[in-house]
Amino acid sequence: MQTKVLRITNLTKSEMQLKEAARILREGGLVVFPTETVYGLGGNGLSAESSEKIYAAKGRPSNNPLIIHIHDPAEADRYARTGDLYFRLAAAFMPGPLTVILPKRNCVPYATTGGLDTVAIRCPDHPVAHALLTECDFPVAAPSANLSGSPSPTCADHVISDLTGRVDMIIDGGECDIGLESTVIKITETGCIILRPGAVTEEMLSEVCTSVSVAKAVVEPGIAAEEKVESPGMKYKHYSPKADVILVDADGEEFVAYVNNNSDNNCGVFTSGDERTKFTSARTLITGEHSGARDESKSLFRLLRKADEMGLAKVYIKLPEAKGEYLALYNRLIRAAGGKIVKP
Ligand code: TXA
Ligand code: MG
Repeated sequence: MQTKVLRITNLTKSEMQLKEAARILREGGLVVFPTETVYGLGGNGLSAESSEKIYAAKGRPSNNPLIIHIHDPAEADRYARTGDLYFRLAAAFMPGPLTVILPKRNCVPYATTGGLDTVAIRCPDHPVAHALLTECDFPVAAPSANLSGSPSPTCADHVISDLTGRVDMIIDGGECDIGLESTVIKITETGCIILRPGAVTEEMLSEVCTSVSVAKAVVEPGIAAEEKVESPGMKYKHYSPKADVILVDADGEEFVAYVNNNSDNNCGVFTSGDERTKFTSARTLITGEHSGARDESKSLFRLLRKADEMGLAKVYIKLPEAKGEYLALYNRLIRAAGGKIVKP
């Protein structure tokens, strides 16, 4: 399959091309598009054949359900049974990095929901995604646009290297602002449960819902394949680069000492720019100028890919706290490390 790459720098000048992208989707093709979290591998969410094509292009098990993307939160009513809490969440966080799981309506095929009676809905906050979704008179089903098992793509180059020849079009809208996938929540009778943490945090959700909880699997390093989990995606080893990711549960100087004592130049370490000179033998991968959840989250998937390009055998990363704005990063790191945490 020939893959067309479309670079969008000016939305008004790209109207015709976005109409073409929408036409490809309507006719059952696959189009990769940017969102504020990560790039998505889109297909028509109301078409079982399109969803099957998405699974095939990604090499992903077809029982791991897809998120459907809409341009206006009110559209959700057409595809799911919403309610008061959904609309309060939408008013607070949509468009934005929040995905809400609701009981599905019949028009959404089981191929899209991985056989479940619920559907995940998200309204992304990105001008290109918004313009594309506005052109579509159907919801766009899209998982992250990586090959299954590699880190989610945060720029078009990652997608080009994973999916060239497997999709009809890749829309390049630059680097993703957040860099980690959306928060996934399930609405319950009394509030909501976080199934996958993201930029919309537990604290932020608590302002809108009276009861917010975090699913156990979010902070558990290893989940057995046969174990039943709320969100099938939590089960798979995710985001894993070829290099061995070693999470070190240690503070500042102790972390530096551990890395310096256990490295040669086949090893890398994630660090902020202002701390890089502390590392004497590991090669440094810079998360940002200073340490902080935003930059560390945004750079994670890009640096995991870079570690592989550099041919590193091991990368050391300091284990963040499993709370607040670090919870999403913690969750992706324990998956990338396959649960391996060392405590010096
Ligand atoms: O930021 C994002 O959410 C990106 C962009 C492209 O929107 N998409 C994304 O999709 O990360 P994906 O397919 O890689 O992850 C979707 C997650 C999976 O963990 C899946 O198991 C869960 O959402 N999920 C989807 N539908 C569900 C449902 N009906 N019930 C429970 N979990 C569901
Ligand atoms: Mg994914």
